[in-house]
Amino acid sequence: MNQYLLTICYLIGSITFILGLKMLSNPASARKGNLVAAGGMTIAILGTIFLYKDIETGTGLNNYTWIFSGLLIGAIIGTLAAKKVQMTAMPEMVSLFNGMGGACASLISIVEFNHLSKELATNPNPLFLPHEQTKVLIIVIGLIIGSVSFAGSMIAWGKLNGRVKDFSFKGQNILNLIVLAAAITSACFLVMNPLQPNLHYIILALSIVYGIFFVMPIGGADMPVVISLLNSFTGVAAACGGFLYDNKVMLTGGILVGAAGTLLTILMCKAMNRSLKNVLIGSFGGGNKTASGGSSVQGQYKEISLSDTAMIMSYASKVMIVPGYGLAVAQAQHTCHELEKILTEKGVEVKYAIHPVAGRMPGHMNVLLAEADVSYDNLLEMEQANDEFATTDVVLVLGANDVVNPAAKSDPTSPIYGMPILDVELAKTIVVNKRSMKPGYAGIENELFFRPKTSMLFGDAKKVLQDLCAEIKNV
Ligand code: TAP
Repeated sequence: MNQYLLTICYLIGSITFILGLKMLSNPASARKGNLVAAGGMTIAILGTIFLYKDIETGTGLNNYTWIFSGLLIGAIIGTLAAKKVQMTAMPEMVSLFNGMGGACASLISIVEFNHLSKELATNPNPLFLPHEQTKVLIIVIGLIIGSVSFAGSMIAWGKLNGRVKDFSFKGQNILNLIVLAAAITSACFLVMNPLQPNLHYIILALSIVYGIFFVMPIGGADMPVVISLLNSFTGVAAACGGFLYDNKVMLTGGILVGAAGTLLTILMCKAMNRSLKNVLIGSFGGGNKTASGGSSVQGQYKEISLSDTAMIMSYASKVMIVPGYGLAVAQAQHTCHELEKILTEKGVEVKYAIHPVAGRMPGHMNVLLAEADVSYDNLLEMEQANDEFATTDVVLVLGANDVVNPAAKSDPTSPIYGMPILDVELAKTIVVNKRSMKPGYAGIENELFFRPKTSMLFGDAKKVLQDLCAEIKNV
């Protein structure tokens, strides 16, 4: 009976994961999707704790003190971290949590290998059965992938919060390949002859070293792509755990995370028009401040005052706001929504143009604006926005840079050449708010700032928006 109930719990878990993932693809249903999947996960976990019975011995789990202490500590840390985290530090937290997933997968492999080697040591038959070898194969796959994901995610976390600096040396890629080859060779050896008492610890150490070396040279700003890739690794490692325990929900969850992480990595690379190889071994957007490529932009830019900006926006029929990383840094999303409301009350149509890689994580701008209760109906995807710029009177670029850089279309030497951009220049007037003329993530100048239709409105996005709201109220 218990077994049937447990199967139903796992079925519910698997279905909710798929439904939740589907709902996460739309900002309007994303929150609910997260809750649905979390609910399914809770059912699967509680089902395992209370309904699981070992087929051979018929005993269930009885170490409840350990299980619930772990759950309680994890739940407290997770809740506090999620409540405290700043929006800009979200990739950092995702990386840390992903690293924990990788560590779990790797620990499962170690514990299961130790169990198996005990069994094999007491078995007088030295020939290994195919199912035992398959088990060792799954164990080492989980061990390598989980450990790489754990070590890589920890380095990514350190880079994003500034504790770890980019580090590379000549021949590093070759050394990386040697370390990886050593780990895989040891793993093959272990699969063929599982009676090796400590080889799995050597594989663990090699995989951790590989994970560190793999992420160390990658530019800090490229971390979101790397984190998404490591996330897919953790999914595959968790799926190995599901395979080992014949646990369907763990298998489904792992496969879904693995597939979603891989798709997200590909989509991010596509949206930036970069290959994964370029992200992993290129230096685009890294700590390299002398990033070259792109013509050196010459000429004069013109500034606009707050009162003039307030005036042109108040008398416009249609205003398009282009949010970027700077808006997230300034935490100006609420003030931005305030500006939208004031303009709308004056009869101005206000919309937002969302570039797929604006900010520093997938859906960064959607999440940011959703936090300020901006209506999803007013968020235009890049293609829709590009169709509407020609009928827009004023574009207000808020802390965005690369995603509106015309060099992506016109300069084949630019590192962002080929990246689709928001064609803000089609609008009648463009006002760009940022703090200085410094470049954005790609480290290159932006010709847009020097074009005749563009005016610069310097200052921190939050302060500028607060002052702009006050000015517009008086127009
Ligand atoms: P960026 O090109 O990084 O430009 C952001 C601009 O915001 C900077 O030029 C900065 O200029 C300004 N800024 C910073 N703090 C500000 C503040 N407090 N107030 C006002 N302005 C401020 O941003 P973007 O246009 O959003 O482009 C995103 C970039 O990140 C793209 O190159 C993309 O490829 C890359 N990327 C994105 C992702 C994802 S998934 N979103 C992942 C990896 C990489 P000042 O310093 O002069 O103020």
